[in-house]
Amino acid sequence: MRKQKITIELTVFDTIEELSSANQELMRLAVKARKNAYAPYSNFEVGAAVLLENGEVVIGNNQENASYPSGLCAERVAIFQAGAKYPGISIKCIAISATSKNYTVDKPAAPCGNCRQAISEYEVKQRSPIKLFLMGETGEVVVCNSLADILPLAFDNSFL
Ligand code: THU
Repeated sequence: MRKQKITIELTVFDTIEELSSANQELMRLAVKARKNAYAPYSNFEVGAAVLLENGEVVIGNNQENASYPSGLCAERVAIFQAGAKYPGISIKCIAISATSKNYTVDKPAAPCGNCRQAISEYEVKQRSPIKLFLMGETGEVVVCNSLADILPLAFDNSFL
């Protein structure tokens, strides 16, 4: 028997202004994308901005449905759109920002488990890390160097 410890390293910026101007710009696109979220049921609005290797940025926002499970998170709307529009082009990073009509989201919004799995597929496929920038509406920005860091023991195509 042996034990294994998994540790991850995150970089935390106190405010969006501490990011490089390029990363700030990407986060601002995620904030802007939030505004077209369709979230009448949760009132929780998320925006995502995906930066591709070719310099293009593809955005997404959460799209809810009266049949709750039929809705989709901002991250998957964005990465699926990127895959549809720019097949074969690697994703460099994804900025994510969330707000709520019910309270002030002052901590970084992290992708849900389904989105982690979906982003992981792209990271495995492109064989290079996808960096994540996570923010609420105010406060800290957490940077994760690779999706794999927040999805340890991921299920991937090596099992199939
Ligand atoms: N949501 C996202 O868009 N991204 C996440 O990673 C977490 C949750 C959305 C889904 C749903 O529309 C609302 O936030 C509340 O769960």
